[in-house]
Amino acid sequence: MTDADVLVVHGGTPLEGEIRLRGAKNLVPKAMVAALLGSGPSRLRNVPEIRDVRVVRGLLQLHGVTVENGDEPGELVLDPTRVESANVADIDAHAGSSRIPILFCGPLLHRLGHAFIPGLGGCDIGGRPIDFHFDVLRKFGATIDKRADGQYLEAPQRLRGCKIQLPYPSVGSTEQVLLTAVLAEGVTELSNAAVEPEIEDLICVLQKMGAMISMDTDRTIRITGVDRLDGYTHRAIPDRLEAASWASAALATEGDIYVHGAQQRSMMTFLNTYRRVGGAFEIDDEGIRFWHPGGPLDAIALETDVHPGFQTDWQQPLVVALTQASGLSIVHETVYESRLGFTSALNQMGAHIQLYRECLGGSACRFGQRNFLHSAVVSGPTKLQGADLVIPDLRGGFSYLIAALAAQGTSRVHGISLINRGYENFLAKLQGLGAHIELPERAPGREPAREPVSEPA
Ligand code: EPU
Repeated sequence: MTDADVLVVHGGTPLEGEIRLRGAKNLVPKAMVAALLGSGPSRLRNVPEIRDVRVVRGLLQLHGVTVENGDEPGELVLDPTRVESANVADIDAHAGSSRIPILFCGPLLHRLGHAFIPGLGGCDIGGRPIDFHFDVLRKFGATIDKRADGQYLEAPQRLRGCKIQLPYPSVGSTEQVLLTAVLAEGVTELSNAAVEPEIEDLICVLQKMGAMISMDTDRTIRITGVDRLDGYTHRAIPDRLEAASWASAALATEGDIYVHGAQQRSMMTFLNTYRRVGGAFEIDDEGIRFWHPGGPLDAIALETDVHPGFQTDWQQPLVVALTQASGLSIVHETVYESRLGFTSALNQMGAHIQLYRECLGGSACRFGQRNFLHSAVVSGPTKLQGADLVIPDLRGGFSYLIAALAAQGTSRVHGISLINRGYENFLAKLQGLGAHIELPERAPGREPAREPVSEPA
């Protein structure tokens, strides 16, 4: 980490103004992978300039897909007509900092008969195993050979549809099944599937390509394999996770932010929670205005869950606002076993947050008997003071920015380029909202000048 990766934040000023969302980080890279399945070019609109997109673009190009900018800003044209095998060392070099490469398995097995998946990165918020993915791929008929440098997969014959029951409604594993089943022979029935809005949007992409997919009300998805898929034209749904991050920033800094592109439908659970804490919002056709209405905020009990529950990625930014609420808030994280570690830095700034191994305030979850600090009691309100902070993961990192902006005094936030994995132009957005920040010395423009050498895996 160098000075180019450190942001100096002078806190205590409410964030006020407008920001504009682009396509969802948790949809766009997957829709780019889906383009591999088409027999002609695809056109994806509303693509944000974030690192996960750059990683997938690089990986697609390594596999012979041409990826070019389209006519409108944020449009990509992806042409997979000349898909080819890529060099293992090159794949490894490109994929290191993202978890998306695992979703290349199904499409590459269909197109080439083999695939290579290196060790995966992503945020350090729990074990992040990939066992469901490989179990699923084996059921379709793939063979997997685990070696020191990664996993080598082969499809000895055309993959075949199958019955799958996920042990947990995992987002990535559901996407793995979708991207594999659409060209597999016969019918695939997936039960206990994840049904996040980003998954629905991926299904829309695949349907445009010619796939046959139906969703039942009980988390079951049925896919009838077809022989051939075409390209698609699609505008990605806006990023509801980024929207909630800015909403939490408005609340914690006593500010007022209009989020262009925020959609009520995909944020209903967040909006209910925001209102319970005492935040105000107003919805119109173009977006949602979020603000602190004055007076004290209310402590709440909060439990993260799969959609339509309270999304885990909303948790960290909102916890910063909860440090300003009166009374005891309880947070039970049930999706990732280690997504509360970021709170120790908030305590260093003056917050009172105690972590527990028990499942507090709600139902028992998978982590209750397994010794993970996955519940928190936040006692507020507490005044936050500026501090030296090292960003641990994407959402935790954005939360540190919020805390530094809400705090009295000056903070130095280290490792800010990690935030570019999921937040487009966040420095320019902060400046536009009136944040008092000193940009990294080598980045007079919008983004930190360099990527970090590595990020937590
Ligand atoms: N899990 C397994 N085995 C697997 C896969 C998942 O045990 O093979 C477990 C995980 O350890 C976790 C749970 O299942 O405890 C849920 O994981 P999931 O597969 O749903 O997560 P993911 O697909 O790896 C995506 C997002 C995350 C988001 C989660 C949950 C992307 C690139 N990432 O991860 O986003 O938190 O779904 O909604 O889509 C973020 O945006 O900051 C982020 C971490």
